[in-house]
Amino acid sequence: MAMPKKRVAVLISGRGSNMASLIEAAKDDGYPAEIALVVSNRPEAAGLGHARSQGITTAVVDHAQFGKDREAFERALQDVLTAHRIDLVCLAGFMRLLTPWFVGQWQGRMLNIHPALLPAFKGLHTHERALAAGVKTHGATVHFVSAEMDSGPIIAQAEVPVLPGDTPETLAARVLEAEHRIYPQALRQVAEKT
Ligand code: GRF
Repeated sequence: MAMPKKRVAVLISGRGSNMASLIEAAKDDGYPAEIALVVSNRPEAAGLGHARSQGITTAVVDHAQFGKDREAFERALQDVLTAHRIDLVCLAGFMRLLTPWFVGQWQGRMLNIHPALLPAFKGLHTHERALAAGVKTHGATVHFVSAEMDSGPIIAQAEVPVLPGDTPETLAARVLEAEHRIYPQALRQVAEKT
């Protein structure tokens, strides 16, 4: 008998192109996960419209309504995830730092995609920094989320070349293609094992 699909929530803050690649992959009958929910911390995130157009349930937990109370925001987020019986969480351009409490709730069940070959270039502005450092190879990483930012165990990586004349934009576009390839693969791997 086929295993039940894992129920996945994708957390976004903006454009949602990685979310879209996960939604696309999950349309396959044989894919071991379904995108059960998309949550944004920003009501105006463009990705919400795309998710809705694909018939996916969306929710907004607006961090601004919680002021500086990071834990209250996360408790509200956790309530939404629990209400939708979520098994796995995929961060996809979700621009909030998470507390050890929230990370602990999802230990080994929360993935993130980072636009660099970790452990190189943690944090923001990875493409600018890769160009400034003169690296010849750059790329993307999917990893489990741990309490320390961009530092959890690596699940998948893809390399892309840095080409002469690259700008942060051309390099970002090349890396983004790799992101869209490896995130669905990494989620498949985790969903099959958990
Ligand atoms: C991606 O480059 C991702 O690696 C980073 O933020 C960007 C989000 O893009 N964490 P999108 O919203 O998935 O299009």
